[in-house]
Amino acid sequence: MGKSFAVIGDPIDHSLSPNIHNAAFRELDLDSSYIAYRIPKGELKEGIEGLKQIKINGFNVTIPHKIEMMKYLDKIDESCSIIGAVNTVVNNDGILKGYNTDMDGFLDPFRKKEINISNAKILLLGAGGAARAIVAGFAKEKAKKITIANRTLQNADKLSEFAKKLGLESETKTINEIEGTLEDYDIIVNATSIGLKNEQSPISFEGLKEKTVVYDIVYMPMNTDFIKKAKEKKATIIFGYEMLLGQAVRAFEIWHDREAPYNAMKRALLGGF
Ligand SMILES: NC(=O)c1ccc[n+]([C@@H]2O[C@H](COP(=O)([O-])OP(=O)(O)OC[C@H]3O[C@@H](n4cnc5c(N)ncnc54)[C@H](OP(=O)(O)O)[C@@H]3O)[C@@H](O)[C@H]2O)c1
Repeated sequence: MGKSFAVIGDPIDHSLSPNIHNAAFRELDLDSSYIAYRIPKGELKEGIEGLKQIKINGFNVTIPHKIEMMKYLDKIDESCSIIGAVNTVVNNDGILKGYNTDMDGFLDPFRKKEINISNAKILLLGAGGAARAIVAGFAKEKAKKITIANRTLQNADKLSEFAKKLGLESETKTINEIEGTLEDYDIIVNATSIGLKNEQSPISFEGLKEKTVVYDIVYMPMNTDFIKKAKEKKATIIFGYEMLLGQAVRAFEIWHDREAPYNAMKRALLGGF
């Protein structure tokens, strides 16, 4: 019998995940399907019961359920327990096991481009759910130090405590405080949601060193103002879609236990823009 997969969240209409996974199934001639399934906030429990009834083989979890979904897991992979949020679930005869592929997805472009993280000085803008997976990634790859800048300093402080617990040296600043200090960093990441609605970049990039790695995890639009301004300064760019692709590839490998067809998935994703 064919296998079935889904992404659950709300809103979910514009999710690119069905395109990416269905392209992989076509490429490998797999008898599987992947759909977007809207589950509103407050209806997660019932939604999951429904997915179990149709014997779904696995699903991705996105906003607003990534943290609440932890409650409904029977088994928790380490990737998931460290971050405290789940984005990929395997259903094994009603036993749900949770994984978090955002961290590997985030790190994937560094590996592909052979960009070294160990000993790098990092500036991270944002302190939400995605930023937490990113901090775990930088800790794993032994970055030298991370500066976390966020609108709400209290959230940055909390994330900084998490970084320290993982053995990563860390400090916090407000976004205003970092203007004029960009030459101090090797890698700058935007993990705020600024850009999604075509907002201006949260920083001006004044004084950026050429070749500094600038990574925007916002993937829609592809060329955010943050990316455009960094390009003008001749930065090395990593796009948000590269993380999205990386997390999908990792989820595919967890579900299907084989290498994912990266290029077919990338073509499908880029066709969605
Ligand atoms: N490429 C990928 O695969 C991928 C994966 C995950 C997420 N994302 C994207 O990453 C972004 C963040 O996701 P998330 O799940 O971490 O969201 P989240 O938990 O809601 O966190 C949002 C972050 O953005 C900040 N922020 C929001 N609006 C702001 C504004 N107007 N000015 C300054 N700061 C603002 C928040 O600051 P406060 O703490 O002050 O509220 C917080 O740090 C989203 O755009 C999402 O689409 C991409």
